[in-house]
Amino acid sequence: MPELTKVAQIKDIPVGESIAVQCGRERVAIFNIDGNYYAVSDMCPHAGGPLSQGYVKGTRVSCPWHGWQFDLCPVDENPNDGVCRFPIHIQGEDILVEI
Ligand code: FES
Repeated sequence: MPELTKVAQIKDIPVGESIAVQCGRERVAIFNIDGNYYAVSDMCPHAGGPLSQGYVKGTRVSCPWHGWQFDLCPVDENPNDGVCRFPIHIQGEDILVEI
């Protein structure tokens, strides 16, 4: 059964920024792109690089270790690229991730 975990408040992730948070066993990267939030596994499927520290252009993030690129698309558009995507919920000022 999916579990909602509060990971941050809106003020914690300004537009264009990202953070990494621990949700149970999962380390999750949260991105704010133009006010839209995206949550993906913070572990690159190539060799485990921290996607939360990657370079973002548009809705694509480049892994900081070797440059593989991934689309920060919504969960229901899963491109099957090895990156787990998680639904985000905004409740008031809180950001919650569905694991
Ligand atoms: S670890 Fe991400 S591209 Fe190699």
